[in-house]
Amino acid sequence: AFVVTENCIRCKYTDCVEVCPVDCFREGPNFLVIHPDECIDCALCEPECPAKAIFSEDEVPEDQQSFIALNGELAEIWPSITERRDPLADAAQWDGKPDKLQYLER
Ligand code: SF4
Ligand code: F3S
Repeated sequence: AFVVTENCIRCKYTDCVEVCPVDCFREGPNFLVIHPDECIDCALCEPECPAKAIFSEDEVPEDQQSFIALNGELAEIWPSITERRDPLADAAQWDGKPDKLQYLER
């Protein structure tokens, strides 16, 4: 499956959801996840993310490995999102900032 990683937090551009053929994105307050059991590995979403937050599971960077389990966990409780929304207000400021996991809202 593909995985949404840390740089999505506090950005949530949502360009990714528009291209997913199986609607497997789930939405939280300031982060999105991919449902690992629904993702068909089409790779369409990866280049759509302006924050470059989406990786194939086998290409998730070493320091982002915890996001694999986090996507699975949150996908079970968050609702589906299939249409793009405006990014979060300060998205441009937060894009690329390190250590954003502490700001994850559930
Ligand atoms: Fe959806 Fe394809 Fe991205 Fe998986 S890889 S989340 S199926 S767009
Ligand atoms: Fe997040 Fe990128 Fe989608 S910032 S909402 S994974 S387009």
